[in-house]
Amino acid sequence: MRTIWWEDGKVILINQKKLPSQLTYIECTHYKRVAKAIKTLEIRGAPAIGIAAAMGLALAAYHTESTTKDHFLKELTRAAKIITSTRPTAQNLFWAANRVLHKANMSTAPVETAKQEVIHEAQRMAEEDIHINKTMGTYGATLLDDGDTIGTICNAGWLATAGEYGTALGVIKVAHEQGKNISTIALETRPVLQGARLTAFELQHDGIDVKIITDGAIGYYCYEGLINKFICGADRIIVSSGCHVINKVGTHTVSITANHYNIPFYVAAPLSTFDPESRLEDAIIEMRNPREITEINGKQIVPENVLALNPAFDITPPHLIDAIVTEKGIIYPPFKQNYKKLFTKKSL
Ligand code: MRU
Repeated sequence: MRTIWWEDGKVILINQKKLPSQLTYIECTHYKRVAKAIKTLEIRGAPAIGIAAAMGLALAAYHTESTTKDHFLKELTRAAKIITSTRPTAQNLFWAANRVLHKANMSTAPVETAKQEVIHEAQRMAEEDIHINKTMGTYGATLLDDGDTIGTICNAGWLATAGEYGTALGVIKVAHEQGKNISTIALETRPVLQGARLTAFELQHDGIDVKIITDGAIGYYCYEGLINKFICGADRIIVSSGCHVINKVGTHTVSITANHYNIPFYVAAPLSTFDPESRLEDAIIEMRNPREITEINGKQIVPENVLALNPAFDITPPHLIDAIVTEKGIIYPPFKQNYKKLFTKKSL
Protein backbone atom coordinates (compact mmCIF):
# COMPACT_ATOMS: atom_id res chain seq x y z
CA MET A 1 0.00 0.00 0.00
CA ARG A 2 1.15 3.55 -0.81
CA THR A 3 0.29 6.51 1.40
CA ILE A 4 0.97 9.23 -1.15
CA TRP A 5 1.81 9.33 -4.83
CA TRP A 6 2.03 11.51 -7.94
CA GLU A 7 -0.52 10.91 -10.71
CA ASP A 8 -0.96 13.05 -13.85
CA GLY A 9 -0.18 16.38 -12.25
CA LYS A 10 -1.99 15.57 -9.01
CA VAL A 11 -0.88 14.36 -5.60
CA ILE A 12 -3.06 11.61 -4.20
CA LEU A 13 -2.93 10.78 -0.52
CA ILE A 14 -4.83 8.56 1.87
CA ASN A 15 -7.01 10.60 4.22
CA GLN A 16 -5.73 9.22 7.53
CA LYS A 17 -8.35 11.11 9.52
CA LYS A 18 -11.01 8.78 8.12
CA LEU A 19 -9.18 5.55 8.99
CA PRO A 20 -9.93 2.87 10.00
CA SER A 21 -13.64 3.14 9.15
CA GLN A 22 -13.14 4.54 5.63
CA LEU A 23 -10.26 4.19 3.19
CA THR A 24 -10.62 7.41 1.18
CA TYR A 25 -8.22 9.48 -0.90
CA ILE A 26 -7.62 13.20 -1.30
CA GLU A 27 -6.62 14.58 -4.69
CA CYS A 28 -4.45 17.66 -4.35
CA THR A 29 -4.06 19.93 -7.34
CA HIS A 30 -2.38 22.79 -5.48
CA TYR A 31 0.52 22.80 -3.05
CA LYS A 32 -1.60 24.71 -0.53
CA ARG A 33 -3.98 21.74 -0.38
CA VAL A 34 -1.00 19.53 0.48
CA ALA A 35 0.01 22.02 3.18
CA LYS A 36 -3.51 21.87 4.59
CA ALA A 37 -3.40 18.05 4.59
CA ILE A 38 -0.18 18.13 6.61
CA LYS A 39 -1.48 20.70 9.07
CA THR A 40 -4.78 18.91 9.69
CA LEU A 41 -3.17 15.43 9.99
CA GLU A 42 -4.87 14.09 6.88
CA ILE A 43 -1.33 12.93 6.27
CA ARG A 44 0.96 12.52 9.28
CA GLY A 45 4.09 10.72 10.46
CA ALA A 46 7.54 12.24 9.97
CA PRO A 47 8.69 10.52 6.74
CA ALA A 48 5.20 10.81 5.19
CA ILE A 49 4.99 14.55 5.73
CA GLY A 50 8.50 14.86 4.29
CA ILE A 51 7.37 13.14 1.10
CA ALA A 52 4.19 15.27 1.12
CA ALA A 53 6.38 18.40 1.26
CA ALA A 54 8.39 17.19 -1.75
CA MET A 55 5.19 16.34 -3.65
CA GLY A 56 3.71 19.72 -2.75
CA LEU A 57 6.75 21.39 -4.28
CA ALA A 58 6.34 19.17 -7.34
CA LEU A 59 2.80 20.54 -7.66
CA ALA A 60 4.11 24.09 -7.35
CA ALA A 61 6.60 23.31 -10.14
CA TYR A 62 3.94 21.64 -12.30
CA HIS A 63 1.58 24.60 -12.17
CA THR A 64 4.01 27.49 -12.22
CA GLU A 65 3.79 29.91 -15.12
CA SER A 66 7.30 31.16 -14.47
CA THR A 67 9.29 31.57 -17.63
CA THR A 68 12.55 32.51 -15.96
CA LYS A 69 14.68 30.46 -13.62
CA ASP A 70 14.88 33.26 -11.12
CA HIS A 71 11.12 33.62 -10.87
CA PHE A 72 10.65 29.85 -10.67
CA LEU A 73 13.12 29.55 -7.79
CA LYS A 74 11.41 32.40 -5.94
CA GLU A 75 8.01 30.74 -6.36
CA LEU A 76 9.36 27.40 -5.20
CA THR A 77 10.97 29.00 -2.16
CA ARG A 78 7.68 30.70 -1.26
CA ALA A 79 5.82 27.39 -1.58
CA ALA A 80 8.44 25.66 0.61
CA LYS A 81 7.97 28.31 3.28
CA ILE A 82 4.21 27.74 3.34
CA ILE A 83 4.56 23.96 3.40
CA THR A 84 7.17 23.91 6.18
CA SER A 85 5.16 26.33 8.33
CA THR A 86 2.51 23.62 8.86
CA ARG A 87 4.19 21.56 11.60
CA PRO A 88 7.37 22.51 13.45
CA THR A 89 8.73 19.29 14.94
CA ALA A 90 9.40 16.60 12.32
CA GLN A 91 12.88 17.03 10.85
CA ASN A 92 11.86 15.16 7.68
CA LEU A 93 9.52 17.97 6.61
CA PHE A 94 12.38 20.49 6.51
CA TRP A 95 14.89 17.97 5.18
CA ALA A 96 12.62 17.10 2.23
CA ALA A 97 11.75 20.70 1.31
CA ASN A 98 15.45 21.63 1.46
CA ARG A 99 16.43 18.68 -0.72
CA VAL A 100 13.96 19.69 -3.45
CA LEU A 101 14.96 23.36 -3.24
CA HIS A 102 18.61 22.37 -3.44
CA LYS A 103 17.91 20.28 -6.54
CA ALA A 104 16.20 23.24 -8.23
CA ASN A 105 18.89 25.69 -7.18
CA MET A 106 21.69 23.44 -8.45
CA SER A 107 20.02 22.75 -11.78
CA THR A 108 21.78 24.26 -14.77
CA ALA A 109 18.91 23.25 -17.07
CA PRO A 110 16.45 25.68 -18.69
CA VAL A 111 13.37 26.46 -16.60
CA GLU A 112 11.03 23.93 -18.28
CA THR A 113 13.52 21.11 -17.63
CA ALA A 114 14.16 22.33 -14.08
CA LYS A 115 10.41 22.02 -13.35
CA GLN A 116 10.49 18.41 -14.57
CA GLU A 117 13.56 17.74 -12.44
CA VAL A 118 11.70 18.90 -9.33
CA ILE A 119 8.75 16.62 -10.14
CA HIS A 120 11.07 13.65 -10.69
CA GLU A 121 13.00 14.38 -7.51
CA ALA A 122 9.79 14.21 -5.43
CA GLN A 123 8.87 10.87 -7.00
CA ARG A 124 12.40 9.57 -6.48
CA MET A 125 12.21 10.54 -2.80
CA ALA A 126 9.01 8.52 -2.36
CA GLU A 127 10.64 5.45 -3.93
CA GLU A 128 13.79 5.92 -1.84
CA ASP A 129 11.72 6.19 1.33
CA ILE A 130 10.16 2.78 0.69
CA HIS A 131 13.55 1.22 -0.03
CA ILE A 132 15.09 2.83 3.07
CA ASN A 133 12.33 1.52 5.32
CA LYS A 134 12.69 -2.00 4.02
CA THR A 135 16.45 -1.88 4.60
CA MET A 136 15.89 -0.47 8.08
CA GLY A 137 13.39 -3.25 8.77
CA THR A 138 15.98 -5.85 7.75
CA TYR A 139 18.56 -4.43 10.15
CA GLY A 140 16.04 -3.95 12.94
CA ALA A 141 14.56 -7.44 12.65
CA THR A 142 17.83 -8.83 14.04
CA LEU A 143 16.83 -7.28 17.39
CA LEU A 144 13.56 -9.25 17.50
CA ASP A 145 13.20 -12.90 18.46
CA ASP A 146 10.63 -15.59 17.88
CA GLY A 147 7.94 -15.28 20.55
CA ASP A 148 8.53 -11.58 21.35
CA THR A 149 5.71 -9.30 22.43
CA ILE A 150 6.60 -5.82 21.23
CA GLY A 151 5.16 -2.60 22.59
CA THR A 152 4.80 0.42 20.33
CA ILE A 153 3.31 3.92 20.50
CA CYS A 154 1.68 6.17 17.91
CA ASN A 155 1.88 4.98 14.33
CA ALA A 156 5.27 4.35 12.78
CA GLY A 157 4.02 2.08 10.04
CA TRP A 158 3.57 2.42 6.30
CA LEU A 159 0.98 5.15 6.79
CA ALA A 160 3.66 7.27 8.46
CA THR A 161 5.95 6.89 5.43
CA ALA A 162 5.54 6.80 1.63
CA GLY A 163 4.14 3.27 2.05
CA GLU A 164 4.71 -0.49 2.30
CA TYR A 165 6.86 -0.93 5.42
CA GLY A 166 7.13 2.02 7.80
CA THR A 167 9.87 2.55 10.34
CA ALA A 168 9.22 0.86 13.71
CA LEU A 169 6.41 -1.27 12.29
CA GLY A 170 8.68 -2.05 9.32
CA VAL A 171 11.05 -3.76 11.76
CA ILE A 172 8.15 -5.81 13.15
CA LYS A 173 6.86 -6.54 9.66
CA VAL A 174 10.22 -7.85 8.40
CA ALA A 175 10.61 -10.05 11.51
CA HIS A 176 7.10 -11.40 10.83
CA GLU A 177 7.98 -12.05 7.16
CA GLN A 178 11.07 -13.95 8.35
CA GLY A 179 8.71 -16.33 10.10
CA LYS A 180 9.22 -15.08 13.65
CA ASN A 181 6.14 -15.32 15.79
CA ILE A 182 5.69 -11.71 16.93
CA SER A 183 2.82 -10.27 18.95
CA THR A 184 2.34 -6.55 19.44
CA ILE A 185 0.79 -4.27 22.02
CA ALA A 186 -0.06 -0.83 20.67
CA LEU A 187 -0.70 2.12 22.97
CA GLU A 188 -3.87 3.88 21.85
CA THR A 189 -1.95 7.21 21.80
CA ARG A 190 -4.18 9.94 23.15
CA PRO A 191 -5.47 12.33 22.01
CA VAL A 192 -5.48 11.64 18.24
CA LEU A 193 -5.43 7.83 18.68
CA GLN A 194 -2.88 7.01 15.98
CA GLY A 195 -2.18 3.73 17.82
CA ALA A 196 -5.80 2.62 18.14
CA ARG A 197 -6.86 3.76 14.67
CA LEU A 198 -3.80 3.38 12.46
CA THR A 199 -1.32 0.96 14.03
CA ALA A 200 -4.08 -1.53 14.81
CA PHE A 201 -5.40 -1.16 11.23
CA GLU A 202 -1.97 -1.79 9.70
CA LEU A 203 -0.93 -4.71 11.88
CA GLN A 204 -4.28 -6.42 11.49
CA HIS A 205 -4.05 -5.91 7.71
CA ASP A 206 -0.57 -7.51 7.75
CA GLY A 207 -1.78 -10.49 9.80
CA ILE A 208 0.31 -9.58 12.87
CA ASP A 209 -1.23 -10.16 16.28
CA VAL A 210 -2.11 -6.78 17.84
CA LYS A 211 -3.81 -5.72 21.03
CA ILE A 212 -4.61 -2.16 22.04
CA ILE A 213 -4.08 -0.79 25.54
CA THR A 214 -4.69 2.64 27.01
CA ASP A 215 -1.57 4.76 27.37
CA GLY A 216 -1.86 4.61 31.15
CA ALA A 217 -1.83 0.80 31.17
CA ILE A 218 1.82 0.62 30.13
CA GLY A 219 3.10 0.28 33.72
CA TYR A 220 0.75 -2.61 34.39
CA TYR A 221 1.83 -4.53 31.28
CA CYS A 222 5.53 -4.07 32.08
CA TYR A 223 5.00 -5.00 35.74
CA GLU A 224 3.25 -8.20 34.66
CA GLY A 225 6.06 -9.02 32.20
CA LEU A 226 3.64 -9.01 29.26
CA ILE A 227 5.84 -6.89 27.00
CA ASN A 228 9.48 -7.80 26.43
CA LYS A 229 10.67 -5.13 23.95
CA PHE A 230 9.61 -1.69 22.77
CA ILE A 231 10.11 -0.05 19.42
CA CYS A 232 8.92 3.35 18.25
CA GLY A 233 9.65 5.86 15.48
CA ALA A 234 10.99 9.40 15.80
CA ASP A 235 10.14 12.86 14.53
CA ARG A 236 13.52 14.43 15.19
CA ILE A 237 16.75 13.14 16.69
CA ILE A 238 19.01 15.86 18.03
CA VAL A 239 22.56 14.71 17.36
CA SER A 240 24.42 17.51 19.18
CA SER A 241 23.02 16.50 22.56
CA GLY A 242 23.92 12.83 22.13
CA CYS A 243 20.72 11.85 20.23
CA HIS A 244 17.68 12.91 22.23
CA VAL A 245 14.67 11.41 20.47
CA ILE A 246 11.63 13.61 19.91
CA ASN A 247 8.58 11.46 19.23
CA LYS A 248 4.86 11.29 19.97
CA VAL A 249 3.89 12.46 23.44
CA GLY A 250 3.97 9.48 25.79
CA THR A 251 7.14 8.01 24.30
CA HIS A 252 9.22 9.36 27.18
CA THR A 253 6.89 7.75 29.73
CA VAL A 254 7.23 4.44 27.89
CA SER A 255 11.04 4.76 27.86
CA ILE A 256 11.17 5.41 31.61
CA THR A 257 8.88 2.47 32.30
CA ALA A 258 10.86 0.18 30.00
CA ASN A 259 14.10 1.24 31.68
CA HIS A 260 12.66 0.61 35.12
CA TYR A 261 11.76 -2.97 34.15
CA ASN A 262 14.95 -3.62 32.12
CA ILE A 263 12.96 -3.96 28.90
CA PRO A 264 14.95 -2.99 25.78
CA PHE A 265 13.74 0.27 24.25
CA TYR A 266 14.52 0.72 20.53
CA VAL A 267 13.94 3.55 18.07
CA ALA A 268 13.75 3.13 14.28
CA ALA A 269 14.31 6.21 12.14
CA PRO A 270 15.86 7.02 8.77
CA LEU A 271 18.85 9.36 8.61
CA SER A 272 16.52 12.09 7.30
CA THR A 273 15.04 12.25 10.83
CA PHE A 274 18.42 13.09 12.40
CA ASP A 275 19.01 16.78 12.99
CA PRO A 276 22.78 17.32 12.94
CA GLU A 277 22.55 21.10 13.48
CA SER A 278 20.05 22.17 16.15
CA ARG A 279 20.71 22.44 19.84
CA LEU A 280 18.27 20.53 22.02
CA GLU A 281 16.88 23.75 23.48
CA ASP A 282 16.05 25.03 19.98
CA ALA A 283 13.84 22.08 19.04
CA ILE A 284 10.19 23.09 18.82
CA ILE A 285 7.56 20.84 20.35
CA GLU A 286 4.29 21.38 18.51
CA MET A 287 1.43 22.47 20.76
CA ARG A 288 -1.83 21.38 19.18
CA ASN A 289 -5.40 22.53 19.58
CA PRO A 290 -6.65 21.82 23.15
CA ARG A 291 -9.93 20.65 21.64
CA GLU A 292 -8.17 17.42 20.62
CA ILE A 293 -8.24 16.70 24.37
CA THR A 294 -11.40 18.42 25.56
CA GLU A 295 -13.68 16.95 22.89
CA ILE A 296 -14.44 13.46 21.62
CA ASN A 297 -16.19 13.37 18.24
CA GLY A 298 -17.05 17.05 18.63
CA LYS A 299 -18.64 16.54 22.07
CA GLN A 300 -17.18 18.45 25.02
CA ILE A 301 -16.00 16.01 27.70
CA VAL A 302 -14.13 18.42 30.01
CA PRO A 303 -15.93 21.06 32.09
CA GLU A 304 -16.17 24.40 30.25
CA ASN A 305 -13.27 26.80 30.90
CA VAL A 306 -10.88 24.09 32.10
CA LEU A 307 -7.61 24.56 30.26
CA ALA A 308 -6.12 21.61 28.35
CA LEU A 309 -2.43 21.51 27.43
CA ASN A 310 -1.65 19.54 24.32
CA PRO A 311 2.01 18.98 23.39
CA ALA A 312 2.11 16.59 20.41
CA PHE A 313 5.60 15.30 21.19
CA ASP A 314 8.03 14.73 24.03
CA ILE A 315 11.77 14.19 24.40
CA THR A 316 13.44 10.92 25.36
CA PRO A 317 17.05 11.28 26.54
CA PRO A 318 19.66 8.95 25.04
CA HIS A 319 20.45 7.07 28.27
CA LEU A 320 16.96 5.51 28.10
CA ILE A 321 17.47 4.17 24.56
CA ASP A 322 19.19 0.85 23.86
CA ALA A 323 19.59 1.16 20.10
CA ILE A 324 18.56 3.29 17.12
CA VAL A 325 17.88 1.43 13.87
CA THR A 326 18.67 3.29 10.63
CA GLU A 327 18.97 2.32 6.97
CA LYS A 328 22.74 2.21 7.39
CA GLY A 329 22.69 -0.10 10.37
CA ILE A 330 21.97 -0.18 14.09
CA ILE A 331 23.51 2.53 16.28
CA TYR A 332 24.36 1.66 19.87
CA PRO A 333 25.51 4.06 22.59
CA PRO A 334 27.40 6.35 22.53
CA PHE A 335 24.97 7.41 19.80
CA LYS A 336 26.58 10.66 18.72
CA GLN A 337 29.98 9.10 18.00
CA ASN A 338 28.51 5.99 16.42
CA TYR A 339 26.10 8.05 14.26
CA LYS A 340 29.11 9.84 12.78
CA LYS A 341 30.85 6.52 12.04
CA LEU A 342 27.81 5.38 10.02
CA PHE A 343 28.57 7.82 7.25
CA THR A 344 31.64 5.88 6.24
CA LYS A 345 29.66 2.63 6.06
CA LYS A 346 27.86 1.24 2.99
CA SER A 347 24.19 0.26 3.47
CA LEU A 348 22.78 -3.21 2.73
O1 MRU B 1 1.49 13.71 15.14
P1 MRU B 1 1.93 12.58 14.23
O2 MRU B 1 0.89 11.54 14.05
O3 MRU B 1 2.49 13.09 12.94
O4 MRU B 1 3.13 11.93 15.03
C1 MRU B 1 3.82 10.87 14.43
C2 MRU B 1 4.79 10.22 15.34
O5 MRU B 1 5.04 10.67 16.44
C3 MRU B 1 5.50 9.01 14.82
O6 MRU B 1 5.83 8.15 15.87
C4 MRU B 1 6.78 9.48 14.13
O7 MRU B 1 6.51 10.39 13.12
C5 MRU B 1 7.56 8.38 13.59
S1 MRU B 1 6.78 7.76 12.17
C6 MRU B 1 7.64 6.86 11.19
